[in-house]
Amino acid sequence: MGMNAVNGMELIRRRRSVRTFDGNPLRPEDAEKILRFAESIRTPYDIPVTWRMLNAREEGLSSPVIVGTDTFIAGKLRRQPHAEEAFGYAFEKLVLYAESLGLGTTWIAGTMNRPAFEKAMRLEADEVMPCVSPLGYPASRMSLRETMMRKGVHADSRMDFSGLFFDRSFGRPLPGNALFGDALEMVRWAPSAVNRQPWRVVVDGRQAHFYEKRSKGYVSADGWDLQKVDMGIAMYHFAFALDEKVELSVADPGLETPEETVYIATLTAL
Ligand SMILES: Cc1cc2nc3c(=O)[nH]c(=O)nc-3n(C[C@H](O)[C@H](O)[C@H](O)COP(=O)(O)O)c2cc1C
Repeated sequence: MGMNAVNGMELIRRRRSVRTFDGNPLRPEDAEKILRFAESIRTPYDIPVTWRMLNAREEGLSSPVIVGTDTFIAGKLRRQPHAEEAFGYAFEKLVLYAESLGLGTTWIAGTMNRPAFEKAMRLEADEVMPCVSPLGYPASRMSLRETMMRKGVHADSRMDFSGLFFDRSFGRPLPGNALFGDALEMVRWAPSAVNRQPWRVVVDGRQAHFYEKRSKGYVSADGWDLQKVDMGIAMYHFAFALDEKVELSVADPGLETPEETVYIATLTAL
């Protein structure tokens, strides 16, 4: 993805949600790079995403948690099976690219005036705009609100490796030094809604089976599952670690699963 000079693990560990920006407008060359990169993103689900960069001031957009930038990027796609995972995959690819340029981002699904964003995106009836992100240059100090938010969701920590990743069956934790250990460490540090980290992975040979451990309250009445967006993010981190030399398939291996844990997809290292 054109960032060979940057170590992948470093990039992933350096990324954090940025909610306080320095007030400088996004430079035109950065805006152009971001849009051009976004347009080039393909997901393994072959579901296209339509992107727009939005000016909050001109379009009446706001997020109560974001200060110091007027620029947002948003994506929309047609409602269909796997739209959540495809969006998560694509948007996280853009988030990591933005990070490589030194730009701050925050995944936002909830804390925004959604109707105004959807209008600005010219959202059609059969489309969904899952999330947006501010774009800009991080301020040197976080706002008090941002600091409090991070504390509230323990944003600087993640669950233990041994509770997330397994060797051929859910009963057997995967050792950190196993094949794909580094890639899974990069999955571990992915962002997720309310930092819930719903991803669970069972490794079998060159296959990584991704499962969603569902928390209550993330599936809306129309069936949209925000935690499946997190699953797309996790899968992108895994793919990113392997230079995207992976193949996606949806073929449930039929393993015995813990409660509220559902199969999502398999990534096979090529
Ligand atoms: C799908 C998704 C939706 C999110 N929605 C919001 C949101 O509405 N407002 C917000 O402030 N942060 C939101 N976040 C950011 C998470 O709270 C954040 O990623 C998590 O706490 C981990 O912190 P980090 O990104 O700094 O590593 C969202 C993240 C994801 C992945």
